[in-house]
Formats: sequence, structure tokens, C-alpha cells
Amino acid sequence: MSDYQARALAHPNIAFIKYWGNRDDALRLPANSSLSMNLAGLHTRTQVRFDPDLEGDRLVFNGKVSQGAALERVSAFLDIVRDMAGQPWRAVVETENNFPSGAGVASSASAFAALALAASTAIGLDLDEAALSRLARRGSGSASRSVPGGYVEWQAGDSDANSYAVSIAPPEHWALADCIAVVSQGHKKVGSTSGHPLAATSPLQAERVAGAPERLAECKTALLERDFARFAEVVEADSDLMHAVMRSSQPPLDYLQPASEAIMAAVKQARAAGLAACYTVDAGPNVHVICSAEDADEVTSRLASMPGVQQMLRATPGGPAQLW
Ligand code: DP6
Repeated sequence: MSDYQARALAHPNIAFIKYWGNRDDALRLPANSSLSMNLAGLHTRTQVRFDPDLEGDRLVFNGKVSQGAALERVSAFLDIVRDMAGQPWRAVVETENNFPSGAGVASSASAFAALALAASTAIGLDLDEAALSRLARRGSGSASRSVPGGYVEWQAGDSDANSYAVSIAPPEHWALADCIAVVSQGHKKVGSTSGHPLAATSPLQAERVAGAPERLAECKTALLERDFARFAEVVEADSDLMHAVMRSSQPPLDYLQPASEAIMAAVKQARAAGLAACYTVDAGPNVHVICSAEDADEVTSRLASMPGVQQMLRATPGGPAQLW
């Protein structure tokens, strides 16, 4: 590629221990550390070209020119990159996802991880993984976790300098699959960025945050030991706690639909009957069912026939953000 342009690819990720609420919204310093798996098979590809002759940034998303809030968020992010490089140039950003946006598959994670790598490279910065994760975090908190590969921990830290994600195990460490039951393809009513500031209004948030280090340690041990039974309990507990916080905030946020609840109950029942599967749900109605890769066909066929399930997506542990 010629000067001042670069292309990058990043995967979204699914959090096993969730990020909900910031200690600093502007810097996206999270209230608690979180833990996730990158999702191979799903990705964002982004090309950035800085051009001294451009008057403003331009965003093309899935082949269509994008303006308004999406462009503003990208421009504000590019301002951080321009500041770091000491350059004023505006950019053309062309980006595409191979999965539906805005409904529980965290598209902002892969979007800002890919944009951080493409934009920083295009403008001539050579950032190491921690610096890139910190930069991605400024665009979307969960994007910090899509920078390193495999199973990833975002260490909350207490400043811009020490809040970034690291890989705790490579993708091949454990052959898990994420079978995503898509019950809605629409955009969520309240996006995560508007949701995070509400977390503190829930009387349950302080408890959730206080218990997060213990849940994270439990989840990490289960993951490193490939102990699915242990892993399943803490993953579901952490997801349930986040939704309890969301539902008890002012105003309340309820992302779950009746179909989501039915799938969650079915997964619990199937596990009690011996299937190694558990659920986790982000800020949307779609249910991520985590299982061993060998059970993924069985899980997919069972879920596909449930009422309200429009589509099944499948992902396996994914690698880091990379140039292509
Ligand atoms: C529920 O990272 O999407 O998916 O930083 O405002 O972009 P912003 O929020 P975002 O929040 C993710 C919330 C979550 C849980 C998680 O992924 O940890």
C-alpha cells in the first residue's frame, strides 16, 4: 500500500466477565476488569487513507456513505490518532462487517480495534500491542479486548496508561464455540455508550463491581484448566448480574426479549441434562451460547428450531487484530 494508508482486520469478542459502567466515561476507564474471547469467522475489515487535501473525514460503511453520529464518533477517534502523530490530515475510512451490526454482537469492538490499527499505521505510528489496545479503548471499551488474540483480559487499571487488554491464552488453548442465536437484527434501543453512565444509578452496581475480581479470577482459572462446569456457572452468573444492574438502573434498561429468556432457560436445562453449554448476553437480545466445538452442531440445531430465532451465527476462538 502507498504512503498514509493501511488496512486492518479485527474480530468482535464475547465477554465472559462483562464490562458495564465506567469510572471515567470520557477516557473509557471501566469500573471493573473483564475477560473475553475473540470471535473468528466474524470480522470487520477497515481501510484508512489520510489525505492532506481532504477538508473533512469521510466514512463509508458496508459500501454506503455514513454521516451523523457514526461519522462524528469516528472523527473524534481520528482526532486522538492525529494528536498522537502531530498531523492535521483528514481521512477516508472504508469499513465493512461480515455480520449484522447493533444487536448483541459487539460491532463497536471489532470496528474500533480495526480502525485503531489501520489509522495508527496509516499515519505512521508504530504502536505496540498495549498502546494499540489503549487507543482502541478510547473508541469503544470492548475494542481494547479485540486487539490481542485468543482469550483476553482487559485490566481495568486506573488511568489511561494502565487500562488495556492482554492475551491470557492463545485461540488454540481451548476449542470452544460461540453459537449465537440471533433473535433481532435491528439496532438496540439504547446503545452501550448511553447505557454505561446509567450503571451507577442501579443499587446493584456497587455489589456487581465489588464481586467482579473474584468472578474474573474464577473464570480465568476455569478457562486455563479447561473446566467447563466451573466456567459455565460463573459466566452465566456474571451475565445475569449485568442484566440485573441494567434492569434496576434509572431509567431501567431491558435488553432481553421473551425469546432470549426462553433460550437461556433451555440452555440451563440442556446443561443439567449433560450438554456442555452455557449462555451469556450483551446489550441486546441475542443469546451467545458457549459450548465445546464438538457440541456446536448439536447446540446450533437445537436452538435454530426455537421460537423467535431468526438466524444462527457460529464463531470459534479468534486471533488478534492484524494488517492485511
Ligand atoms: C454489554 O464496549 O460497546 O457488551 O465503550 O461505550 O463502546 P462503549 O461500550 P461497549 O460496551 C460493551 C458492553 C457489553 C459487555 C462487554 O462486552 O463486556
